[in-house]
Amino acid sequence: SHRITLGPLVAAIDQGTSSTRFLVFNSRTAELLSHHQVEIKQSFPKEGWVEEDPKEILQSVYECMERTCEKLTQLNIDISNIKAIGVTNQRETTLVWDKETGEPLYNAIVWLDLRTQSTVERLINKTPGRNKNHLRHKTGLPISTYFSAVKLRWLMDNVSEVHEAVVSHRAMFGTVDSWLIWCLTGGKSGGVHCTDVTNASRTMLFNIHTMDWDPELCKYFGIPMEILPRVRSSSEIYGLMKICSSRKSGALSGIPISGCLGDQSAALVGQMCFQDGQAKNTYGTGCFLLRNTGSKPVMSDHGLLTTVAYKLGRDKPACYALEGSVAIAGAVVRWLQDNLGIIGSSEELEKLAASVGTSYGCYFVPAFSGLYAPYWEPSARGIICGLTQFTNKSHLAFAALEAVCFQTREILDAMNQDSGIPLTQLQVDGGMTSNRLLMQLQADILCIPVVKPSMPETTALGAAMAAGAAEGVSVWSLNPEDLSEVTSEKFEPQINPEESEFRYARWKKAVEKSKNWET
Ligand code: G3P
Repeated sequence: SHRITLGPLVAAIDQGTSSTRFLVFNSRTAELLSHHQVEIKQSFPKEGWVEEDPKEILQSVYECMERTCEKLTQLNIDISNIKAIGVTNQRETTLVWDKETGEPLYNAIVWLDLRTQSTVERLINKTPGRNKNHLRHKTGLPISTYFSAVKLRWLMDNVSEVHEAVVSHRAMFGTVDSWLIWCLTGGKSGGVHCTDVTNASRTMLFNIHTMDWDPELCKYFGIPMEILPRVRSSSEIYGLMKICSSRKSGALSGIPISGCLGDQSAALVGQMCFQDGQAKNTYGTGCFLLRNTGSKPVMSDHGLLTTVAYKLGRDKPACYALEGSVAIAGAVVRWLQDNLGIIGSSEELEKLAASVGTSYGCYFVPAFSGLYAPYWEPSARGIICGLTQFTNKSHLAFAALEAVCFQTREILDAMNQDSGIPLTQLQVDGGMTSNRLLMQLQADILCIPVVKPSMPETTALGAAMAAGAAEGVSVWSLNPEDLSEVTSEKFEPQINPEESEFRYARWKKAVEKSKNWET
């Protein structure tokens, strides 16, 4: 059989909180040729704790690679056409491993984890004026359980293996990008220990102005700088894939890993938001609205984060973004399924909610990990209110979807206030955007159109673009004229703004009730 001739291909590893994917794109057309996805187990060993197994994460990457390669072969596409691989990942999730044995020294502490709540409260109480924004001028972030530094501190204080490895200079810290790149480039035999500026900007140890680790921040959290990965741009060759030939993914050996971006930054790139003022909202486990602010880090007055958006090349300028982070979006669907058992799948949730078309006055604030933007309240906890004897599981399903939309509305309002220029439509992506009811609800609650690209894997696309554009690879041009047009679908608001405001006001009231629960 003859082989299809294509342009050079670029692959991406998308390691999210709930699943891992490996995807292969045609660099000429940005078309997705093949992919594979594997779910990731989360463990909740104590209330508020969220962990994942670093080895399972790595294994899932290998599995996705192998299955994708098989699918490519079935499509008669030669794997040797893959010229580069990009990595994009759940951010902040914290790992420590032993560089001599290559073994993780504890589970990965997932970004959603709340075990550091008391440490965070203690740190805030020690700042002048009990100010959670004490480190914001350098980091762009409030002191919160969300970011890596406090998780790393917890590991050093509570896990003797980590403590010992640090003392004996064998410890390596990393977020998921660093763990994967280190393992995939050889691990204990010569793996590259690095991260990119976007992932680094989520640790609270990184100075977003100097674009490097900050000695004062490291001292503040008591983190020895030698355990930190080297910070690189989001688009350059970090190293070559080194997979033993006995593995089925061995065919990928020798391919450069040349793109690295936190998943939210990658989605911004994949949605082509390269201009100051452009924004996207990604509905994954959480929900993250990022607005490009160009070469200037803009400090928020309304509870948003300032973060590094991307730096697409060693000699390219860094771009910044304002970010509104919502901890629980898709996670609420998984909760309804796994914890309450009222649905068997996310598709069922849509059906159930659509069968009633209203929450009938029920409001659900899923503050399972406290409230993130714009509140930053670690002591908030989830509530369901407005229940009557009429309320049933369909209303609850509807309220869960509405919660995702209301949380996005709060972020959008903050974003509009900070920038003074309201967004006139919202570009969206992520797994939950396949839920059409959710998309319509979102447009209704925002009172602006919601625009969804027809190729939903924008996060992976962004990482592939960064990898393909890297110096020494150069198979993907990021010039705006060369980028292919994105086809999309638009959802227009259908309810009147008064009704939308009424429901939003009720939601706000519910949010107030969720605050200060665990104090
Ligand atoms: O900051 C956490 C974020 O990067 C996780 O993204 O897609 O796994 O919800 P996601």
